[in-house]
Amino acid sequence: MGKRVAIIGAGVSGLASIRSCLEEGLEPTCFEKSEDIGGLWKFSTLVSGINKHPDFSITGQWDVTTERNGKKESAIFDAVLICSGHHVYPNLPKESFPGLKLFKGKCFHSQEYKEPGIFKGKRVLVLGLGNSGCDIATELSHTAEQVMISSRSGSWVMSRVWDDGYPWDMLFITRFETFLKNNLPTAISDWWYIKQMNARFKHENYGLMPLNRALRKEPVFNDELPACILCGTLSIKPNVREFTETSAIFEDGTVFEAIDCVIFATGYSYDYPFLDESIIKSKNNEVILFKGIFPPKLEKPTMAVIGFVQSLGATIPTVDLQARWAVRVIKGTCTLPSVTDMMDDIDKKRGKKLKWFGTSKTVQTDYITYMDELASFIGAKPNIPWLFLTDPKLAVEVFFGPCSPYQFRLVGPGKWPGARNAILTQWDRTLKPTKTRAVGNPQKPCLLCRWVRLFVLPVLFIAVFFALI
Ligand SMILES: Cc1cc2nc3c(=O)[nH]c(=O)nc-3n(C[C@H](O)[C@H](O)[C@H](O)COP(=O)(O)OP(=O)(O)OC[C@H]3O[C@@H](n4cnc5c(N)ncnc54)[C@H](O)[C@@H]3O)c2cc1C
Ligand SMILES: NC(=O)c1ccc[n+]([C@@H]2O[C@H](COP(=O)([O-])OP(=O)(O)OC[C@H]3O[C@@H](n4cnc5c(N)ncnc54)[C@H](OP(=O)(O)O)[C@@H]3O)[C@@H](O)[C@H]2O)c1
Repeated sequence: MGKRVAIIGAGVSGLASIRSCLEEGLEPTCFEKSEDIGGLWKFSTLVSGINKHPDFSITGQWDVTTERNGKKESAIFDAVLICSGHHVYPNLPKESFPGLKLFKGKCFHSQEYKEPGIFKGKRVLVLGLGNSGCDIATELSHTAEQVMISSRSGSWVMSRVWDDGYPWDMLFITRFETFLKNNLPTAISDWWYIKQMNARFKHENYGLMPLNRALRKEPVFNDELPACILCGTLSIKPNVREFTETSAIFEDGTVFEAIDCVIFATGYSYDYPFLDESIIKSKNNEVILFKGIFPPKLEKPTMAVIGFVQSLGATIPTVDLQARWAVRVIKGTCTLPSVTDMMDDIDKKRGKKLKWFGTSKTVQTDYITYMDELASFIGAKPNIPWLFLTDPKLAVEVFFGPCSPYQFRLVGPGKWPGARNAILTQWDRTLKPTKTRAVGNPQKPCLLCRWVRLFVLPVLFIAVFFALI
């Protein structure tokens, strides 16, 4: 019989973990505290404690305590995969806003927002320019009397619909872009990044420009927001300096009067209340995990956290690769580096993350670099130079095209025979559902055009310069 693995949470991370366990012959048991996940299952089992079994240093086993219908139970597991998510506990920084205690209107976190109807005719202030704040504010702009978003540091706001109508990430998250970002001088790569983020509209003109423009913090994806600002149904304001009983005074001295409701779209804090802090929280109250997955100082590598990273790429392929690796480590077919090497790697990565993403986003990571790292641990990383020699057609798609999850099913364990064809047909398949009225042939975007444009201009200038002297 395979090792018994406890999986905490039945979101996408939990489901990826169940699948990886089954693929590797382990025996998963999933615990989920919600009653009903997408109408699929009835769960309602809270994991209230995970403790090392008394002989942990020999067996690596865990005592997992659960609560269901008020009844506590305990069971021993050979390993634990924590898939409890990091958008669970609202961050409500009320102390950051002087005078908030005086405010007489309603005040709640975006997690409690359910529907726009009850805001008809109301004056609403949304705090925070993340995806939650923008989704809520644009929705409310159709019903509320007036909506304002207050932003502390601005955000890049991207359209989901990019060149030739393809999704933004298909054109933006490519191996070629990543290669250039990692190899061009910082000044050029920052300049190009800012230029691309401003491609649809100039963020200064809409009051959205991030204070630190070159930080690669998570953009907001919202096609409606710029249009709402342009039409005047929504305004962007700086951070709130002070609240009064009925209004908010912003840092620029302007005032939003007669506010009915303040919505804190201020994100989430992470917490693992079922786990002893010493296991994964050790430095400046930060979660310290090797590759965002493994607590580095355990005597036995029988615990992994799946889904505790934030990248520009899609969540599902990320947690899928994390689970594939974690399950192999638990099974013993992959081994982890020494504690010292893992701690060194954590420190090195932390420095890089601060540089690229800033202080508040240390769970953020690069997508392709991270995926390649994970894939290389299990032998599923595509060998690009070899691919160019053996299958150039596929290599061009893999290097210049979107980094779709099939790339990590081309080789190694979990290899899928359909992966090559899936990559070669991804452009057509993306537009299939949108072409419900046939008019002309679909255009595949030119993968190199943007970069050719970038380099052609300087080359032209140099050529003209030399021609003139
Ligand atoms: C409003 C909103 C919109 C989002 N939209 C997108 C999007 O469009 N695309 C995207 O990629 N990401 C989106 N995200 C991020 C999204 O949360 C993650 O991509 C995804 O849900 C992560 O899945 P997960 O399984 O890791 O965590 P979750 O989906 O949070 O699942 C964790 C599960 O663990 C359970 N759990 C927690 N603690 C316990 C416990 N002690 N015992 C038992 N069960 C427990 C929870 O009930 C939950 O069901 C969004 C987030 C928010 C807040
Ligand atoms: N449609 C979607 O795809 C969708 C929808 C909702 C959420 N999500 C995802 O869910 C995750 C959470 O999103 P989120 O928008 O809830 O949170 P978030 O991305 O963490 O954004 C939080 C916002 O609140 C601000 N903030 C935090 N603390 C503050 C303080 N003390 N004072 C002033 N401002 C403060 C932040 O400003 P700073 O930038 O200055 O820190 C930021 O603008 C993200 O990964 C997001 O992509 C996705």
